[in-house]
Amino acid sequence: MDPITNNDVIVLQLDSKKSTIIIGSSILASLATLIPYKKWDVIVAIVSDTVYTLHKEVIDQSLALIDAIAIPYTDSEHNKSYAYAERYFNQLLENRCTRNSLVIAIGGGVTTDFSGYIASAYMRGVDVVYVPTTLLAMVDASIGGKVAVNIKAGKNIVGYFHQPDYIIIDIEFLQTLPRSEWRCGMSEVVKHALIGDSSTLTLLLNKEIQYGRIDNSLYNCINSSVRFKASVVEKDEFEKNIRAILNFGHTVGHAIESLLEYTVSHGDAVAAGILIESYISMKEGMPKADFDCIRDIISAYNLLPSISFDSYKIVNHMMYDKKNIKGKTRFVLLESIGKPQIGCEVNDALVKEALNFYLTMVSK
Ligand SMILES: NC(=O)c1ccc[n+]([C@@H]2O[C@H](COP(=O)([O-])OP(=O)(O)OC[C@H]3O[C@@H](n4cnc5c(N)ncnc54)[C@H](O)[C@@H]3O)[C@@H](O)[C@H]2O)c1
Ligand SMILES: [Zn+2]
Repeated sequence: MDPITNNDVIVLQLDSKKSTIIIGSSILASLATLIPYKKWDVIVAIVSDTVYTLHKEVIDQSLALIDAIAIPYTDSEHNKSYAYAERYFNQLLENRCTRNSLVIAIGGGVTTDFSGYIASAYMRGVDVVYVPTTLLAMVDASIGGKVAVNIKAGKNIVGYFHQPDYIIIDIEFLQTLPRSEWRCGMSEVVKHALIGDSSTLTLLLNKEIQYGRIDNSLYNCINSSVRFKASVVEKDEFEKNIRAILNFGHTVGHAIESLLEYTVSHGDAVAAGILIESYISMKEGMPKADFDCIRDIISAYNLLPSISFDSYKIVNHMMYDKKNIKGKTRFVLLESIGKPQIGCEVNDALVKEALNFYLTMVSK
């Protein structure tokens, strides 16, 4: 395997602030040279317990060099909550954090969302740096500034747009990522590839990306996926229009997740959602060859979950999705691979047909 020698810097010029993304291999050890750490009076790092156990040495070393205080975080969706946030606000206060302090998040999307929320609300907002450690957090959750916590009534209900100052993507973390988490990230990578990230599409078609291979192809794939999401966010930071293309696969995906009471992972639900929404796209005019290509990619990466659901209930559930305008379900559909259309209305009969197609396919 070729050693990864590349690294890259992407600067996002957003309406709210400048956000700098640095991607490379084994770069966390150089954190002190990557961020201007002296500009903040106190630095606290909210660190996922799991990630800390697996990568203790590099985390301790890099945080020591910038004088950061580590605060452990048991990262579960349950602890990404409004109720749990209060103890972290208190810890920031106990550590004498001011408006000029910095929060660093080290972990997957749960940790970056939660820490981002803490940073966005503490003293009306302090700076935040993300060190995403899952594939999903690298290509998706850490990019774009959405921060949120859950309340009893639902996931990601309470939150803000709060952009990180820096995102440090060190792909070495992926050495320890379990296969199931890898698949979750791959679903979002595939989504980006289908809605416009053509470099990643080529890598996927050539089957160059494989679980457990932390190589240049993976580096290029993550780099391209990150660049793609960043370019969409740069055009529409607050999701007034074009950013909504990132919801491809998610209208159905969210409904499946929610109806199955989160017994299916987000990535699995999104993979199913991508295929179902691609089927709808085909029936609305996308070439069949494109549908076959999408099905091949999703199957080649083993992303499709064998799940069962009541199609009628899914259709009903989608009407109550928080992203729907006036009770109408709207989809992101593909005109062809790489050409998404937002705000598409589809009749219920076609949605049910697509859901039933999926059920038949996975039961074979
Ligand atoms: N803000 C956004 O725009 C956005 C976008 C997508 C998803 N999200 C949020 O992201 C969250 C999901 O993120 P996730 O999939 O990263 O989940 P996660 O943070 O729960 O991480 C998944 C699991 O992997 C473990 N882990 C993390 N890094 C590891 C590593 N390097 N090696 C081994 N294990 C590791 C974690 O401890 C956890 O058990 C959800 O809460 C979702 O709502 C946010
Ligand atoms: Zn998603």
